[in-house]
Amino acid sequence: MLKRLLLAAAMPVLVCWGGAAHAQDAPKSYVGNETCAQCHEAEYRRFTEYSKKHHSFQSIEKLQDGLTPQELQQCYACHTTGFGQPGGFVDPVSTPAMKDLGCESCHGPGSLHVETEDPEHIQRDLTIQDCRRCHNEERVRAFNFQPLIRSGAH
Ligand code: HEC
Ligand code: HEC
Ligand code: HEC
Ligand code: HEC
Repeated sequence: MLKRLLLAAAMPVLVCWGGAAHAQDAPKSYVGNETCAQCHEAEYRRFTEYSKKHHSFQSIEKLQDGLTPQELQQCYACHTTGFGQPGGFVDPVSTPAMKDLGCESCHGPGSLHVETEDPEHIQRDLTIQDCRRCHNEERVRAFNFQPLIRSGAH
């Protein structure tokens, strides 16, 4: 009886040793730009040099004095990487590498792709809908008609 129980307990572990199946079953988590840079140096360099997303936390800091903690949390959804998700932004002290927007804001959590190097395991075919998650109509309009951001929201 005991032996059977032990065997049953060992089974899933043995299946996991299969490798790929295990990796795909694990929930994907965020790993940060520096990890992507190891294999995509050119994209990393261009992104860190030219994209305003790479400084998106500064935009929060500019306005944070007038904001309640609840309001600040709302900013994190669009101005940091992976807020509230495995491996994603928690706060600027414990997860400094995730405080700005990064590769994974568009390409999604990269842990599985980093492990397998399989292009199928990272999001590439992005559509305008993926951008609208953050660049929503309300915000586009706010930037067209109210270049000055009032009361910490825009
Ligand atoms: C250990 C190396 C490695 C790491 C780390 C890595 N990649 Fe990749 N990536 C590859 C390889 C290999 C390919 C396939 C060949 C190619 O397109 O250059 C690829 C392809 C891609 C593609 C194109 C997919 C397609 O459909 O053609 C994207 C997008 C991508 N990677 C994003 C990322 C992001 C974002 C990160 C960080 C989360 C990352 N990669 C980390 C190796 C890596
Ligand atoms: C997770 C949220 C998020 C997603 C997804 C997102 N963006 Fe952004 N984007 C932002 C934020 C926030 C800024 C402003 C950064 C700042 O200056 O603080 C920005 C800035 C920009 C800018 C202007 C600044 C620059 O870098 O030159 C462009 C252009 C842009 N995004 C394009 C896109 C496109 C295209 C997509 C879809 C492929 C996309 N974004 C997806 C949040 C996002
Ligand atoms: C729904 C997603 C979203 C939320 C929530 C959000 N932002 Fe933004 N924010 C954006 C996008 C997208 C841009 C870029 C707009 C553009 O360039 O068209 C932006 C731009 C900005 C800019 C201007 C950056 C520049 O210099 O061009 C500031 C400042 C800013 N946001 C601060 C904040 C603060 C503070 C909060 C929280 C109160 C916040 N945002 C919440 C999406 C968001
Ligand atoms: C604003 C959204 C956004 C961000 C942020 C972003 N990418 Fe991309 N990336 C794209 C889009 C859209 C494509 C697809 C381009 C195409 O199909 O022509 C792409 C394509 C790629 C490719 C495939 C090769 C190519 O150039 O088409 C790689 C590799 C890649 N990105 C890596 C990265 C890495 C590494 C970072 C961070 C340093 C990053 N990306 C940040 C939107 C983004």
